[in-house]
Amino acid sequence: MSAPAPSDLAFVPFVSVENMMKLVHRIGIEDMLRGLASAIEEDFRRWELFDKTPRIASHSRDGVIELMPTSDGQVYGFKYVNGHPGNMKEGLQTVTAFGLLATVDTGYPVLLSEMTVLTALRTAATSAMVARHLAPRDARTMAIIGNGAQSEFQALAMKAICGITHLRLFDIDPRATEKTMRNLDGLGLSLSACSTPEEAIESADIITTCTADKQYANILTDNMVGAGVHINAIGGDCPGKTELHRDILSRSTVFIEYPPQTRIEGEIQQMPADFPVTELWQVITGTAPGRTSDSQITLFDGVGFAIEDFSALRFVRDHLQSTGLFQNLDMVADPDDPRDLFGMLQRARI
Ligand SMILES: NC(=O)c1ccc[n+]([C@@H]2O[C@H](COP(=O)([O-])OP(=O)(O)OC[C@H]3O[C@@H](n4cnc5c(N)ncnc54)[C@H](O)[C@@H]3O)[C@@H](O)[C@H]2O)c1
Repeated sequence: MSAPAPSDLAFVPFVSVENMMKLVHRIGIEDMLRGLASAIEEDFRRWELFDKTPRIASHSRDGVIELMPTSDGQVYGFKYVNGHPGNMKEGLQTVTAFGLLATVDTGYPVLLSEMTVLTALRTAATSAMVARHLAPRDARTMAIIGNGAQSEFQALAMKAICGITHLRLFDIDPRATEKTMRNLDGLGLSLSACSTPEEAIESADIITTCTADKQYANILTDNMVGAGVHINAIGGDCPGKTELHRDILSRSTVFIEYPPQTRIEGEIQQMPADFPVTELWQVITGTAPGRTSDSQITLFDGVGFAIEDFSALRFVRDHLQSTGLFQNLDMVADPDDPRDLFGMLQRARI
């Protein structure tokens, strides 16, 4: 007897790495970054209706594996993501991810997607969306300290969304900077490779730190940061892993995603539990001020929150039918008679 054919509900659209890359090129990377930033901003506007919890993290000596769930009441989503700073030396990615959406009414999955590429895109789109609210209005120059996997995405999002035209790059490994220079060549940004972090941040309106190290690092110290800049600090995203000297935090107005998560994982883990912060969704909805003066240092202490992944998955799902860039996976056992799961199994016996 042959196995019964799966029902329509058994099939879950799956976006592979190959199809995700095709999707980015079909839409165009800058348009996709703009689209993701809009989706994320829309969801920050309806922040209060989401289920929110700090991500569930399993720490080990070498890194962390995390689950990031949320729901807007109609759709549930989660991302699986790791962070292993030592992976690069082994020829592996520091961050890899995949994610899922399901309908809340039945609990059936409706999308499974690669999220390694999508995380880089959503992180960059979030940074640029936030910078559009907080950075100096005429910001044109950005420094990027840490020229690894995230760096080009950050550069292009800041170009597409905030109008950045000049990049100043620094990494402790010059090969990383060479790689970023090569990848961004011809994409409409003027590029300078710098030999120290001080040189990179000279004349920068926005400073992005995206380094990977499992320790309290001082990528920026207080004397390096001048008045009026916007700092986009995304590399410190785990307990015991930060990038900025605490004195910078004391001089800055700090903006964060979700306090219960960022107080554990962000730059502000170095500060007392009542250190004042502003929640970004309140700036976006106009209930809290963003930048209030030209001399103010604004700091996005970005750790990455589940709602950003939800928005990104929602964006991908909205492009499935028009692009056809997915495969159907036979993923949900869905017998015709819902009580007869065993019968379905028996009928599949060869
Ligand atoms: N906030 C978020 O939402 C989010 C999302 C994705 C990744 N991240 C984090 O961003 C960081 C970067 O991720 P990635 O995928 O680009 O990692 P990566 O390993 O590909 O690149 C990190 C780069 O930082 C460089 N570096 C390390 N220490 C440095 C220092 N002291 N000064 C200058 N450069 C230094 C390394 O040489 C490397 O080129 C990681 O810590 C990752 O966990 C955060």
